[in-house]
Amino acid sequence: MSTQATDRHAIGVAMKRKEDPRFIQGKGHYIDDLAFPGMLYLALVRSPYPHAEIKNIDIADAMKVPGVKAVITGKDLDAAGLGWLPTFHGFDKQMVLAIGKVLFQYQEVAAVFAESREAAADGAEAVQVDYAPLPVVADPFTSKTDKVLLRPDREQKTNHIFHWEVGDKDATARALASSPRRIKERLWFQRCHPAPLEPCGCVAYFDTMGRLQFHVTSQAPHVYRTALALVTGIPEDKIHVISPDLGGGFGNKVPIYPGYVCAIVGALKIGRPVKWIETRTENLTSTGFARDYHMDVEIGATEDGRVTALHVATTADHGAFDAAADPSKYPAGIFGIVTGSYAFPVAHAEVDAYFTNKAPGGIAYRCSFRVTEASYAIERGMDILADELGMDAAELRSKNFVKKEQFPYPSALGFTYDSGDYQKTLNLALEKIGYKQLLEEQAEKRARGELMGIGISTFTEVVGAGPSKHFDILGIKMFDSAEIRIHPTGAGIVRTGTKSQGQGHETTWAQIVAEELGLDPQTIMVEEGDTDTAPYGLGTYASRSTPTAGAAIAMAARRIREKARKIAAHLLEVGEADVEWKDYKFQVKGVPSKTVTMKDVAFAAYTNMAQNEPGLEATFYYDPPNMTYPNGTYVAVVDVDRDTGEVKVRRFLAVDDCGTIINPLVVEGQIHGGLTEGFAIAFMQEVQYDAEGNNLNTNFTDYLLPTSLETPHWETDKTVTPSPHHPIGAKGVGESPNVGSPAAFVNAVIDALSPLGVRHIDMPITRDKVWRAIQEAEQSKK
Ligand code: CDP
Repeated sequence: MSTQATDRHAIGVAMKRKEDPRFIQGKGHYIDDLAFPGMLYLALVRSPYPHAEIKNIDIADAMKVPGVKAVITGKDLDAAGLGWLPTFHGFDKQMVLAIGKVLFQYQEVAAVFAESREAAADGAEAVQVDYAPLPVVADPFTSKTDKVLLRPDREQKTNHIFHWEVGDKDATARALASSPRRIKERLWFQRCHPAPLEPCGCVAYFDTMGRLQFHVTSQAPHVYRTALALVTGIPEDKIHVISPDLGGGFGNKVPIYPGYVCAIVGALKIGRPVKWIETRTENLTSTGFARDYHMDVEIGATEDGRVTALHVATTADHGAFDAAADPSKYPAGIFGIVTGSYAFPVAHAEVDAYFTNKAPGGIAYRCSFRVTEASYAIERGMDILADELGMDAAELRSKNFVKKEQFPYPSALGFTYDSGDYQKTLNLALEKIGYKQLLEEQAEKRARGELMGIGISTFTEVVGAGPSKHFDILGIKMFDSAEIRIHPTGAGIVRTGTKSQGQGHETTWAQIVAEELGLDPQTIMVEEGDTDTAPYGLGTYASRSTPTAGAAIAMAARRIREKARKIAAHLLEVGEADVEWKDYKFQVKGVPSKTVTMKDVAFAAYTNMAQNEPGLEATFYYDPPNMTYPNGTYVAVVDVDRDTGEVKVRRFLAVDDCGTIINPLVVEGQIHGGLTEGFAIAFMQEVQYDAEGNNLNTNFTDYLLPTSLETPHWETDKTVTPSPHHPIGAKGVGESPNVGSPAAFVNAVIDALSPLGVRHIDMPITRDKVWRAIQEAEQSKK
């Protein structure tokens, strides 16, 4: 593939800004920079209580605030049949504005529309709500008891949402019972938040034709259009969804949030454009969180370290509404990948989800629907097993890898892994990091009482949802699409159903077209996010864009090449069968001097096409035959200060295998970003609630973002094992570093503390947790 990095994105954005007068000049092309004449602002009244009955809402004072135009409540919406919003999960629905009671702190209670942002905020403060507090359920284990029923609106009178399982339960239990060695550990992957730098927002208005123009921070604009049509009854052709530049998404911008619905209702009711922009606190407290899985991991093994069985039982905290953005048939996402890179003869995984008085969600934060939790469970589990067996963590992994010759590999939990060479990737990582020398250094340090740890994670994940036979969102099958038009001069445009949030599709999609058609990538415009122009697609999340839309682009380009061959034959004055595509040109077979370029053919397609249909364009809807299985070996080296508990990540090496690489620079950027997020999750971030259900991390002084000061230096390398079923052999990569790295960090810290007898610490591994673990270990030895 061509590897040239371009500044196409910057050029594209600058052009759009110049052309679009609705955007405030010089500021950007983001929702908050969009301005329309007569635009109103929306502010939401939010509950201070996690669980309370709403006795009364008095809007009289709010309506007196200068500039306030209207206030709506849950009752108003309910009366209009818009009280509830289906969640993307499909199993549940969510109140748009609270009806009767609130179920989590910061839940949306009323919507205030005003002439300015300030007036809307003042109006929201003036809305008087009488609450009668109810008992709070702050964790899923309390929820299990059903002593307080959180969702009387549902048919099932229980807090239990679903039980999901996969694998052979009895065979796994038998294998575990007869295994000579066994480990069992409860691991909690804490609740965390994607926290994109740009929070969510929208502008909604009905144009003079009565058509809804909806500018919104959406990772899945087409799904929004369909969902809005189904919920509001507005015909789908009367809805135009535009997702402009996004300042990050990471899964947070997949669900439809109450603020969006209120903005549309306000625009309809008042007849003016309405803008809603979340505050940072609103984003952190009420939009899709991630993870919150309590996992009991059990692994059986032989005396010499061959794994015999895996059982994982999970208790999941889904918050007040089941708004986890998972495919319909997979309530626990793709958690079934929990056997990881290892050849488990038998396995069983189960997940039970519960409602609690917390914000709803469970979104795929840089993760294919629970793959991150699964990867953490198995990679921590393997380290605990190595410790139990007194075996080197790398050796245990090697011994149990799915071998190169076993692909395509059917896992015990039903996935068919496409390709991989795990041993090669591990070998490269160990050699590059100097594993042998590090072990020697560690032994010397341990003899001196110093705490040094080496943490390995040899993860396999699964991306590219998905084969439509298995994956859908709200019944809409998961595929993706591309439309390519080549203009007479050989320049062109490619549009897809995906939507970049900073991943560089503007560069990589142009490269795929250029590579397939022998054109200059600088002259291929990439456009995404506009439902009027882009072909239908399911959007960008879960690293699905390259496996789905990337494949669709290659296939659409090949369709163009087939048509171009006919025109080339006409230009070369030979039969079509005598023309071959060689070295990015059409050539008469066996006559290298007789060639035409795609540029020549493009011009002829509009000027000299003979009997052929004019024009040069194609569309392809790609339904992948399988997912792709990126993998890698990550190694972290840490030093732990025995007196303070401070952990210093001295080195971190990531060797990734994402198949064929389209753009090494983009991939490198994806890996750096994902590792930085993984580092933050491992050491800094947790959305904490107290026992009364109060959210303790409402802004960036409490929910910490890593800066360049604490972020380690990342070393990277790669192996390339192409996906056999993807047209260009590429696998997704964006989420891999977030999926694979938390276990490497934790394994390194626990390895450092293992001489003291410490077996596990839940993330985030803060200094005080480490210090306490050291103190407790030392006390118990006295
Ligand atoms: O769905 P999303 O774009 O977030 O994830 P992805 O498919 O992993 O792609 C992230 C970025 O990395 C895109 O610009 C891809 O085209 C690029 N990429 C690449 O250059 N080579 C790969 N093998 C995989 C992704």
